[in-house]
Amino acid sequence: MVTKTKTIGILTSGGDCPGLNAAIRGVAKAALQQGTKVIGIQDGFRGLVENRTMMLEDQDVSGILTRGGTFLGSSRDKPHKMPMGGKILDMTEVAVSNARKNQIDCLVCLGGNGTQKNAMRLHEAGLDVLTLPKTIDNDVAGTDITFGFDSSMAIATEAIDRLHTTASSHHRAIVCEIMGHKAGWLALGAGIAGGADVILIPEIPYDLDHVVEHLMARRHHNKRFSIIAIAEGATSKTEASDSSKKKKIPRDDEVEGLIEEPVASRVAREIQQAADIEVRYTSLGHVQRGGSPTATDRLLSTRLGTKAGELLHDGVYNVMVGLRGEYCEAVPLEEVAGLTKVVPVNHPWLKTAALVDTCLGDKLKF
Ligand code: F6P
Repeated sequence: MVTKTKTIGILTSGGDCPGLNAAIRGVAKAALQQGTKVIGIQDGFRGLVENRTMMLEDQDVSGILTRGGTFLGSSRDKPHKMPMGGKILDMTEVAVSNARKNQIDCLVCLGGNGTQKNAMRLHEAGLDVLTLPKTIDNDVAGTDITFGFDSSMAIATEAIDRLHTTASSHHRAIVCEIMGHKAGWLALGAGIAGGADVILIPEIPYDLDHVVEHLMARRHHNKRFSIIAIAEGATSKTEASDSSKKKKIPRDDEVEGLIEEPVASRVAREIQQAADIEVRYTSLGHVQRGGSPTATDRLLSTRLGTKAGELLHDGVYNVMVGLRGEYCEAVPLEEVAGLTKVVPVNHPWLKTAALVDTCLGDKLKF
């Protein structure tokens, strides 16, 4: 059967992550094989607005499976609020009209929560879209997991392993800040995998006294080092109950927030003041987004990408390709856009952590 999609545009938007090139390759190879033309769009939605495109052939997506980042480039720009010549303009119509000029039947957008929303906006403006769930944060609704998460969790776990040896040599506590935006998946996953003694995530506002008590109990049992894995979005109970103290996590157009003190630094200081423990902190930052994808992410990206190819062949648009159980499935974009998947407080990983005596920042019942 001939493909229902003659031409696709493909772009990567938002923060990059390992597995993006593998996903582009999956979509493009599957599409090219069935006779669909593939147009690569540079630097996310900005490239669409500025009509910066390149025709992709099979050789262009060869040899990129293992490469980190995205060879198309990415940006956090959104069509409806785009900085243009010193002003913020709504460029939605330009984006749609450029897609039409390039005869794009469907725009394939690889990205996280922001991208799902922006793709939905373009769909509402009349463009057919199809999305893939990418982010180290694992916070996209409608899919069991996002690509990029496994690679990032592996990096953060290795970092915790390394912190363990130095913390134990010096009998210190080390606070390790892990990305994840407003969700705790990454800190929780890497914290459990790395055997962190305390894991603090945004979904469970922490009580510093409870944390200090746990650290002192470890000391009392002759465990002379501790690792505290803290999600960048973690907040104390006091902050959580006082909305004026709610912290912002820098992203998108909140760049000025970047000068904020890392949460790990603040918590390290608070612990040192409250307990007679020598404390250091490390903020892993963008290291967690770099380098080659894990085998699990390469497989996931390739599966999601090639499933996208199949859906394009059948003319199924305005969906996100998600992993549901064993299968990659088309999920209506309305069920995804605008939602954030955080760690439910009854998630089994939390119980797992508690059962190996990891402090989760507060007294919890399972
Ligand atoms: O969404 C991915 C992510 O790495 C978040 O974990 C983090 O909050 C944010 O992006 C950092 O954004 P930027 O790369 O724009 O500094």
